[in-house]
Amino acid sequence: MIEEIRSVILKAVGKDAEFEVSRPKISGRGHFSTNAAFFLSKINSTPPSEEAEKIKDKILATAPAGYFEKIEAAGGFINFWVSEKAINAEFKKISSAGSAWGGSKDGAGQKAIVEYGSPNIGKPLHFGHLRSTIIGQALYNILKSQGYKVVSWNHPGDWGKQFGIMIAAYKEKQRAGKKVELSIGEFLKLYVEYNARMKENPRLEEVAREETKKLQYGDGENVRLWKKIYDLSMGEFARVSRQLGVRFDVSHGESFYKPFLKRIVEEALARGIAIKSQGAVIIPLEEEGLPPFIIQKSDGAYLYTTTDIAAAKYRLEKFKADKILYIVGDEQYLHFEQLFAVLRRLGYLTSQNPVHIKFGLILGSDSKKLSTRAGKHISLAEVIEEAINKSAGVLKEKAPDIKGSELEKTSRIIGIDSLKYNDLSQNRSSNIVFDWEKMLSFEGNSAPYLLYTYARLRSILRKSKSVIRISADFKSEAEKRVIMKLDEFPETLRLAADNYYPHTLALYLYELAEAINNFYHTEPVLGATESSVRSSRLAFVRTASAILKKGLNLLGLETVERL
Ligand code: ARG
Repeated sequence: MIEEIRSVILKAVGKDAEFEVSRPKISGRGHFSTNAAFFLSKINSTPPSEEAEKIKDKILATAPAGYFEKIEAAGGFINFWVSEKAINAEFKKISSAGSAWGGSKDGAGQKAIVEYGSPNIGKPLHFGHLRSTIIGQALYNILKSQGYKVVSWNHPGDWGKQFGIMIAAYKEKQRAGKKVELSIGEFLKLYVEYNARMKENPRLEEVAREETKKLQYGDGENVRLWKKIYDLSMGEFARVSRQLGVRFDVSHGESFYKPFLKRIVEEALARGIAIKSQGAVIIPLEEEGLPPFIIQKSDGAYLYTTTDIAAAKYRLEKFKADKILYIVGDEQYLHFEQLFAVLRRLGYLTSQNPVHIKFGLILGSDSKKLSTRAGKHISLAEVIEEAINKSAGVLKEKAPDIKGSELEKTSRIIGIDSLKYNDLSQNRSSNIVFDWEKMLSFEGNSAPYLLYTYARLRSILRKSKSVIRISADFKSEAEKRVIMKLDEFPETLRLAADNYYPHTLALYLYELAEAINNFYHTEPVLGATESSVRSSRLAFVRTASAILKKGLNLLGLETVERL
């Protein structure tokens, strides 16, 4: 509806006017409100209230008959109430679109690469990687719904010094005559132990550095061990990704770009973009007010930076990406500022800019950085496990009817959905709070609340024997509130796709669920006496459930039919 309102206003104020149309949250301000009068008041040097009255009169004279119930000018704003007739017509439109509602072609013809996940493999998968993976998958889905061709891209760190550490630790054990089992758990243990000892003993650090270097120069034994660790950790990451319902179209580790690095540095030097400085190669970024980007160390080694230049070039040239989103934590802010500046200097960027989609830390419910009691790292696999177990506990109490394999499946879905929703419902730019109790609560802005709302609608549809057809008008305030909320879905998705903020979609779904529950508590569906009302309300329930499900799926959440 917002588009119709916009064009009605446009007709009254002239096409060059700049104004906004909003949906006021405060009651008494109408379904829609505009600030258009302020624009004209500035141009004509008249009071906004006077302009608002004039615009209102013009709209009343030109708007389609019966579309508005009321238009009010108030303090320079103009507030609109749409009529019951218009709301019912809108519902018919939404209902026949069904789950296609909210989709758009905004991104048609554009290719977006969304890079997320990207763990440093060979280290235990960190809980922090959960955020990148969850936010990335949601943005991938949302962009897709807006017509973009989207490629999900994993950029694991498979070439860092962590491998030197593991190799050093492995060899140390072997020398001591101990047998080392070639498993991911064993390697991770080796890593954690060696890493801790290394902090106290610089000798060990030296050994690990040597092993890294040997690996990078292609030493047979080290390359063989690297490959083993690589396969094991990528397997582990694939397992966790599968559990989270995440999939990647492309997965190229940093090592993939090794063959390109030499040329990147040569080209930058030849074009005078990079210079030699104390044996290293750097790209000065003074003009941009940034520290220099070091792309080759004095010992000849290439860096994370060099790989990122190569990776961007590859994506832009080979994949013809129009847009690249990097879903990476805040702490790499400077790296990406520098990288983008360098890409611009190298002339790799066309019209679209790459975007660093930043996010904050995960904090415990005491607002401190999350860590285990011993201050050790929290493993992602363990958190997932715990979420599933805890959700089984909640289910046994809240939904004792669910048993056996259904209990298993439902706990898995609710556990993982809760992890995801807890993240996605909070503004990604800030640190988020991780609070098991709130996450798994059946009340408030949580995954269980939304899933429960959905399952309730599904249960009505399952029980119904009547036809489903819109045969009577929706007249109650509760129904109209839901319809207006459904009407807001397309602009919500558009906004989330433009700003890359999944929490705006999450908040929307919460508000939709509240409106639906309000309807559920005030209007009987199966118990409606008139059959035309009953079949219309069934259509209502069907449409509302389809949109709720679609929204949840776009966030990457799975739904359950019964709860
Ligand atoms: N592997 C890195 C880390 O865990 C993240 C990679 C981010 N992506 C990139 N293109 N630099 O910190």
